[in-house]
Amino acid sequence: MTSPAIDLTVHHKPAGASDRVAYGFVKLLRFFADTFFAKRYGHRAVVLETVAAVPGMVGATLNHLKCLRRMEDDRGWIKTLMDEAENERMHLMTFIQVAKPTMFERFVVVAAQWVFYLFFFGLYLVSSKTAHRVVGYFEEEAVISYTHYLAEIDEGRSENVAAPQIALDYWNLPAGATLREVVEVVRADEAHHRDVNHGFANELRGLPHGQIAPCPPHVVLEPNWKTAA
Ligand SMILES: [Fe+2]
Ligand SMILES: [Fe+2]
Repeated sequence: MTSPAIDLTVHHKPAGASDRVAYGFVKLLRFFADTFFAKRYGHRAVVLETVAAVPGMVGATLNHLKCLRRMEDDRGWIKTLMDEAENERMHLMTFIQVAKPTMFERFVVVAAQWVFYLFFFGLYLVSSKTAHRVVGYFEEEAVISYTHYLAEIDEGRSENVAAPQIALDYWNLPAGATLREVVEVVRADEAHHRDVNHGFANELRGLPHGQIAPCPPHVVLEPNWKTAA
């Protein structure tokens, strides 16, 4: 399988106070993540994907409510943000098959969800532009971290285990695919979210969206019940 072609070097240069706050905040969180996880990339992925799946749902909720209040069209934002949240949850469901979190990490996930959900909800209410810029920068960092994870696999420090079944099914990966291919496709997802969120932040500043990396194809999740014939 050829790896999804993405531009790994995309970086939105902070322009203005809102961007600088967003970038500083993300760099601070990166410092804590690097200190806490060091090179335990599997564990890092599990814990951080539980956080990464939050902003899309917050953005979708608040845009949904805004469109109801204003009785206006959402220009495709709500579905895009819900898809992002679902995609990030599938990253979590994939990596939980690769690394099992410790009890302490599970505690961190619960605590971080309370704090981060409320924080991001508040931030989105105050400045949706800054909130989308924060996500754009988070995703820049995610692309970097998954590139480090690939190097770790290539240099033999992380075992290139078989891809979990859930990943084969979700991204339609060929039988025999390995963790390396999973990390590549996840990284391409992150690059897509990166560009979409920087694009949303740009749009809120009245600027053009810019280039958007394509989203790797994945299946649409279906409910486990059938409607009556
Ligand atoms: Fe992710
Ligand atoms: Fe992400």
